[in-house]
Amino acid sequence: MVFSSHSHSPKTQYSLNKILNLIQTHISLHPYFYLFVSFLSIQALVILFARNPLLCFSNRSTAGKHHHDAVSVVPTDDCPYGRVYSYDLPPMFNIDLLLSNCTDLNLWNWQCGIVTNHGYGGGATELRSILPENLYRSWYRTNQFTLEVIFHYRILNHKCRTMEPESATAFYIPFYAGLAVGKHLWMNDTSKRDWHCKMMLKWVKKQEYWKKSNGSDHFMSIGRITWDFRRLTDPGKIWGSTFLNMKSMQNVTRFIIEKAPGDAHDVSVPYPTGFHPKSKDNLIDWQNFVRRFNRSSLFTFIGATRNWVNNDFRGLLLNYCYNESDSCRVVDCSVSQCSIDSSVTLKALLGSEFCLQPRGDSFTRKSIFDCMVAGSIPVFFWKRTAYDQYEWFLPIEPQSYSIFIDHEEVRNGTSIKEVLMRYKKEEIRKMREKVIETIPRIIYAKTNGGGVGDFKDAFDIAFEGVMEKIKEDKEWV
Ligand SMILES: *[C@@H]1O[C@H](CO)[C@@H](O)[C@H](O)[C@H]1NC(C)=O
Ligand SMILES: *[C@@H]1O[C@H](CO)[C@@H](O)[C@H](O)[C@H]1NC(C)=O
Ligand SMILES: *[C@@H]1O[C@H](CO)[C@@H](O)[C@H](O)[C@H]1NC(C)=O
Ligand SMILES: *[C@@H]1O[C@H](CO)[C@@H](O)[C@H](O)[C@H]1NC(C)=O
Ligand SMILES: *[C@@H]1O[C@H](CO)[C@@H](O)[C@H](O)[C@H]1NC(C)=O
Ligand SMILES: *[C@@H]1O[C@H](CO)[C@@H](O)[C@H](O)[C@H]1NC(C)=O
Ligand SMILES: *[C@@H]1O[C@H](CO)[C@@H](O)[C@H](O)[C@H]1NC(C)=O
Ligand SMILES: *[C@@H]1O[C@H](CO)[C@@H](O)[C@H](O)[C@H]1NC(C)=O
Repeated sequence: MVFSSHSHSPKTQYSLNKILNLIQTHISLHPYFYLFVSFLSIQALVILFARNPLLCFSNRSTAGKHHHDAVSVVPTDDCPYGRVYSYDLPPMFNIDLLLSNCTDLNLWNWQCGIVTNHGYGGGATELRSILPENLYRSWYRTNQFTLEVIFHYRILNHKCRTMEPESATAFYIPFYAGLAVGKHLWMNDTSKRDWHCKMMLKWVKKQEYWKKSNGSDHFMSIGRITWDFRRLTDPGKIWGSTFLNMKSMQNVTRFIIEKAPGDAHDVSVPYPTGFHPKSKDNLIDWQNFVRRFNRSSLFTFIGATRNWVNNDFRGLLLNYCYNESDSCRVVDCSVSQCSIDSSVTLKALLGSEFCLQPRGDSFTRKSIFDCMVAGSIPVFFWKRTAYDQYEWFLPIEPQSYSIFIDHEEVRNGTSIKEVLMRYKKEEIRKMREKVIETIPRIIYAKTNGGGVGDFKDAFDIAFEGVMEKIKEDKEWV
């Protein structure tokens, strides 16, 4: 399930996959951790954040409009877009949602990722078998639904955090909506999926600074896809919570792993992968490693079929890949324990020029980011898998870093292998270079605080983007 996201289709509700996800959301965190981090001094962090030029992005116009390239921007103030105030929510809305039972050794409970290590997960020691020492230490067993925990940690420790709401430009609501709703997604009682959301809004609407803006200078992060929070707009009105249908949420910006393309307040951010470098050197070592890796296969497909889906495209790709075993590496996640042993999947991605990325149960899929972090070039079959998501993070030109083959053409008999073989070595090298230079933008660095300071990761880009937007909105008014 690590490689699929999850559906809002009621048809698929009762699958093993869903039950696994459900179990994996029952996890924990030591409550005194937040006490500890709140004592970290802001001054100490400022020292960490001495601004060095951002590596890899020499041409601003190739990136999205929210990319603040340190090569051309020399900030005069450490917080050019102002400061953020993080609400001190009652623990029932965040840390109490992290239950305390998990073990790395148990298949059903493997993903301690959300609880451990401020949301980053424990070290991925299994990668020792395939990576040199200096590299495997940048890898963690990170849960794909941990975004809200990582963002919370990063904001609490951010140099631009203020403890005085009156000096804040923007307000962060550290509500773990994905964990609150995820627990109840597969149970019949829809009121339970809405309860925490309603209570949180009731709480926040009493706050002085909410009343001043009705939430338009507030933001949050949500660790599950947007369709898990839009029951009223679900065709069957069955799936998920109504959190994002609630009127009070209308003007709150939320970072989310898959957005609703029509909703300007949804901002899609990369799914967390297991790669979390601690420094720019760690990052560069990794970029060099994936650049030089001997990729002996043309392409790879990692995934499991969905037997209950009619005419399942992933099943088709799996069979195709088995049949083309000279050029395709298969990792069948219904056979391999993809979620437990990331060495199986990482080895396949490192060893392949391209990786096939069909849609997941929803349009997006965590595996897109696993693929790119390993320097493999993604092959998409639906435009909506990546091209209208992640605008702040992925290169603007789809063909600069990816291949598109329409799924209907594949069903009609187009050979994926033949399409991929048409690309020349030099074209492939260029695309891979684009993928490699995108790596810092799609990962969450492992830091003591707000940023690693010497490059901008996905969190930094998201944070600066929302701060700039809110600041501009306020100045315009
Ligand atoms: C930057 O990229 C744009 C669009 O890809 C291109 O037109 C422009 O020439 C590039 N500029 C530099 C300085 O490379
Ligand atoms: C934690 O796991 C143990 C062993 O599986 C179990 O006995 C215990 O009840 C669990 N505790 C909670 C709070 O779930
Ligand atoms: C679950 O919901 C469905 C549809 O609303 C209903 O028919 C069914 O009886 C419910 N099941 C239980 C166990 O409550
Ligand atoms: C907030 O919403 C209320 C009710 O809709 C409205 O009366 C009030 O003027 C709004 N305040 C702002 C600052 O938009
Ligand atoms: C959201 O913002 C728009 C435009 O500023 C405003 O018209 C609307 O009333 C706001 N919605 C809520 C619920 O405050
Ligand atoms: C790359 O791997 C292939 C297949 O394993 C092998 O034949 C080839 O010699 C390797 N090339 C290099 C440069 O290591
Ligand atoms: C398997 O590959 C062979 C040779 O490329 C091809 O003739 C055959 O139709 C393929 N079978 C399937 C099921 O794709
Ligand atoms: C696939 O084949 C069908 C039937 O021959 C045709 O109508 C359709 O346009 C084809 N689709 C693509 C994308 O080639």
